[in-house]
Amino acid sequence: MKDKLIPKKIVEELNKYIISQDEAKRSVAISLRNRYRRKQIKDNKLKREITPKNIILIGPTGVGKTEIARRLATITDSPFIKVEATKYTEVGYVGKDVESMIKDLISITYNKLKSEKITELGEKYREVILLKVAKLIKPYGTVNLDEKDILLKEVKDGKYDDQEVEIEKSGSLEEPLIEVFATGSETNGEGVKGIIDNIINSIPNTKKKLVKMSVKNATEYLLRVEIEKNIDLEELKPIAVERVEEDGIVFIDEIDKIAQREGAHSEISRQGVQRDILPIIEGTTVMTKYGAVRTEHILFIAAGAFTLASPSDLMPEFQGRFPIKVKLNTLTKEDFIKILTKIEFNLLLQYKELLKVDNVFISFTSSAINEIAEIATELNEDIENIGARRLSGVIEQILNEIMFEAPYKEAKIIKIGKKDVAKVFEYSEEEENLDDYIL
Ligand SMILES: Nc1ncnc2c1ncn2[C@@H]1O[C@H](COP(=O)(O)OP(=O)(O)OP(=O)(O)O)[C@@H](O)[C@H]1O
Ligand SMILES: [Mg+2]
Repeated sequence: MKDKLIPKKIVEELNKYIISQDEAKRSVAISLRNRYRRKQIKDNKLKREITPKNIILIGPTGVGKTEIARRLATITDSPFIKVEATKYTEVGYVGKDVESMIKDLISITYNKLKSEKITELGEKYREVILLKVAKLIKPYGTVNLDEKDILLKEVKDGKYDDQEVEIEKSGSLEEPLIEVFATGSETNGEGVKGIIDNIINSIPNTKKKLVKMSVKNATEYLLRVEIEKNIDLEELKPIAVERVEEDGIVFIDEIDKIAQREGAHSEISRQGVQRDILPIIEGTTVMTKYGAVRTEHILFIAAGAFTLASPSDLMPEFQGRFPIKVKLNTLTKEDFIKILTKIEFNLLLQYKELLKVDNVFISFTSSAINEIAEIATELNEDIENIGARRLSGVIEQILNEIMFEAPYKEAKIIKIGKKDVAKVFEYSEEEENLDDYIL
């Protein structure tokens, strides 16, 4: 973890996915490092004086604000949640439940830990279970040692997958006690589910019956039972709490929408929302079903376009907690070309791979890519600036016909040149009504 947090390394990693916006990348990297530095300080009194270096990212839509925060979290493997500041201005939300952002964050973190644990235990017990299943196929008394090894290998390789075996199944396990892919948040009624689970689990389970299943299903079933027997969910809770407290990142989008301009009126007090969020940012303890979570080390990254309001319209206390303000720039045509070609798993690659599935092999000439970037820039200028989001729309239109016609009778190699791109957009060059075909 420590090495992952070196600012230069973070920027290096961010560069793989985000073009331009160097200042923003630097700032988030520094902030994250400063949190780590602050944690290392032994003198608690001094430590308390050092406030977290939260950040406000300022910039138009689609230039990478959310993307930077999201990638930052992935790269550093930090618990991450994105919330919209405006959510807390909705009726029914006023003055309460701002804490739900922390509750949701810990829910996500806990569920992630849980599925990691399930995977880990699955790997640990797979061998044992395969042995058990092998015994069901041919009782070991009847085979010698060599045959046993061969049998086990065959079971592993799936040779007996469809063969039926008889296993003992206990009633309550029809429904998995653990939902591997549970991602529900604490505020989404998991509470009720918890109660129901408890009732189900408290019913004594004495009924055992023999059932027939395929080897494949039996293996999965027995493995699940084994995992459920061995997983200690209680032990995961404090780990989740610690990870959120130490490494959590909360991304608050649309922060400009809760900034109050001088003399402006709104139905719901925007300052009220700032006041509600403030304690969480300043450091408070939020009670969750996983334990009490202290928020003082959580890194907050806020973002907004700030076209109508400016960061100085936020309450002074609020501004004080976000000492770093970074502007993101509008992306240029050159940036678009880089986004299309240089970043890992870029859009062009994504479409290439999608079509490969249907044996269609597409490629773009560099002048075609140049043209795509050019068109995206023009459309942003002429219709609405939606930043890099424009690119997928443009490509989608170019490939529309190919994607509809495929698969063809035979494998196909298609080279897309500048003319092919221009053809799709030729009306725009004649400046006809753009709205007719741009959805
Ligand atoms: N600088 C960039 N480099 C690479 N890709 C980018 C960049 N900016 C935006 N994108 C692409 O555009 C998409 C939208 O960007 P993002 O979600 O970061 O916008 P945003 O700045 O948060 O806008 P909004 O204000 O609308 O929330 C991203 O998923 C990403 O694929
Ligand atoms: Mg965003």
